[in-house]
Amino acid sequence: MKKPSHERLLIIDFGSQVTQLIARRLRELNVYCEIHPYQIVDDAFLADFDPKAVILSGGPDSVTREGSPRAPQSLFDMGLPVLGICYGQQTMMQQLGGMVESGHGTAEFGRAFVTPKNTLSLLDGWFAEDKEQVWMSHGDHVSKIAPGFEVYGTSPNAPYAITADVSRNFYAVQFHPEVHHTPNGAKLYENFVKMAGFTGDWTMDAYKDQAIAAIRAQVGDEKVICGLSGGVDSSVAARLIHEAIGDQLTCVFVDHGLLRKGEAEEVVTMFRDNYNMQLIHADEQELFLGELDGQSDPETKRKIIGKLFIDVFQKHASEVGGAKFLAQGTLYPDVIESVSFSGGPSVTIKSHHNVGGLPEKMGLKLVEPLRELFKDEVRALGEELGLPKSFIGRHPFPGPGLAIRCPGEITRQKLEILREADAVYIDQIRKHGLYDEIWQAFVAILPVRTVGVMGDGRTYDFACALRAVNSVDGMTADYYPFTHEFLGETATRIINEVPGINRVTYDITSKPPGTIEWE
Ligand code: XMP
Repeated sequence: MKKPSHERLLIIDFGSQVTQLIARRLRELNVYCEIHPYQIVDDAFLADFDPKAVILSGGPDSVTREGSPRAPQSLFDMGLPVLGICYGQQTMMQQLGGMVESGHGTAEFGRAFVTPKNTLSLLDGWFAEDKEQVWMSHGDHVSKIAPGFEVYGTSPNAPYAITADVSRNFYAVQFHPEVHHTPNGAKLYENFVKMAGFTGDWTMDAYKDQAIAAIRAQVGDEKVICGLSGGVDSSVAARLIHEAIGDQLTCVFVDHGLLRKGEAEEVVTMFRDNYNMQLIHADEQELFLGELDGQSDPETKRKIIGKLFIDVFQKHASEVGGAKFLAQGTLYPDVIESVSFSGGPSVTIKSHHNVGGLPEKMGLKLVEPLRELFKDEVRALGEELGLPKSFIGRHPFPGPGLAIRCPGEITRQKLEILREADAVYIDQIRKHGLYDEIWQAFVAILPVRTVGVMGDGRTYDFACALRAVNSVDGMTADYYPFTHEFLGETATRIINEVPGINRVTYDITSKPPGTIEWE
């Protein structure tokens, strides 16, 4: 394992649904951390990782069950600060000589209130009132604390809600400080890392220099190709790699004719003219739109686009000649090795290929400089690299582009109308200062024409639907509650400014049962 220069905290994962949130809280404190499943953390791993502190996550198992997960016993002899959370607290107690019980009356789920017993540095800033709200989710509870530990906080069903052995820097909490429902939880992490001596050296500025050095070391004099979609991840990855190796990088931007108004020019101008990057602008509109002609089934359309994309990317990448590496904007949530209890003892590793299968097919090695970052860190790095804020904060845009916003057959005429309507809608959203409040917004052109009257004449034009949602990760979503004034003004503008549309609707479906896109 490579040893970076920044301080590191290790999170040992016992399979909690919210382990990733621990990492989020720590990264917000400028502390670098990694999540690793308990199965792989042994003495050699600990020595190699060389953490400055360790956090034991929650998990669904019961420490009272034989064969249930444990932390390596040697961890407790290394002189490192350790914080145990929920299951992590329970295994820590048992491994250090305490006791855990399961059964009737020990469970506690949801909101609870902890009251203080003693003062403790971990609790600095807590208990300004006489109690703190916390979020509990446990079936078992600690019935006897380990020798050396004392009680610092209790809740009605967790007499040992907060315990610590201060002399050894061991802390244990029964609740989850990382979740939103423990409103003051971030403070506990802040106090823990402060006591552990972290200086907060994980900043995007420092990361940028280190990542540039790592890219240079990995790539040497070889050539790298990168698929640029205009999305945030691939754009930031390309900027970073370009900063590291200059003209050894060539980007391929595939224009499939399904982009938004002005998008191809914006991406190409920014990267080629402003950043002087070697960029192949693959204008493949004829190919894609030709193959899509007459197709109306959503899955068929997606498959055609996916296959052509790979073919086209491969063709242009081969033109570069002698490239040994393919760059991808893979992020940390895609590579976390999470513990899979339902899948047995094996570890599930999610791997993410934006251009699936290509690296093997073309004999390329991967460069993934964003593998350690969360999405908001990628945005911060993008800013550090000088990408415009307006570009970095753009709403997500799907790979198949406008094709999945044009239900039924795709025609050039419909795409043109859709582009214009979308541009007016987004302009309205920006003018009303709503762009950054909305997770994703777009127009879909519907495969129906409706009768209208404009001036004294009859119209027979397309209807369109406006979509705007709020979401955290795209998995679930709520429609955005625009005012009637906004909707009315926007509908009027679209009908007046976009020939071909004479009716505007607003989609108020959440996900589920709908999806965000229309296809
Ligand atoms: P759905 O429509 O599935 O979309 O609710 C969830 C999020 O994913 C985006 N999306 C895609 N992104 N390739 C992508 O890169 C795709 O094929 C694709 N399909 C949907 C969608 O825009 C939304 O943000």
